[in-house]
Amino acid sequence: MPFVYFVPLGVEVKCESGSTIFDVAKKNSIPIAESCGGDKICGHCRVKVIEGIESLSAPSQEEEKIMHRYKFDIDERLACAVKVYGDIKITTSYW
Ligand code: FES
Repeated sequence: MPFVYFVPLGVEVKCESGSTIFDVAKKNSIPIAESCGGDKICGHCRVKVIEGIESLSAPSQEEEKIMHRYKFDIDERLACAVKVYGDIKITTSYW
């Protein structure tokens, strides 16, 4: 089971392989910005991946559309779309 480390909150949680970052955050009461409820529409749930980007699912067409629309940096992913398959460290501007 992979670990997700939320920087700089100092919170590390274990999750089921294949969980989305969004679901891991919600399940563990970590605040995550959103206005579409995880429907891959608003783009607000973007997170920056500090370590372990190779442990994430490849972007789907849906995620790529949002990443392009909101001009994500190369190390940013959509928390409600991306699935976790190995240990990662992530952050946002509001934690
Ligand atoms: S919660 Fe809206 S795009 Fe992820």
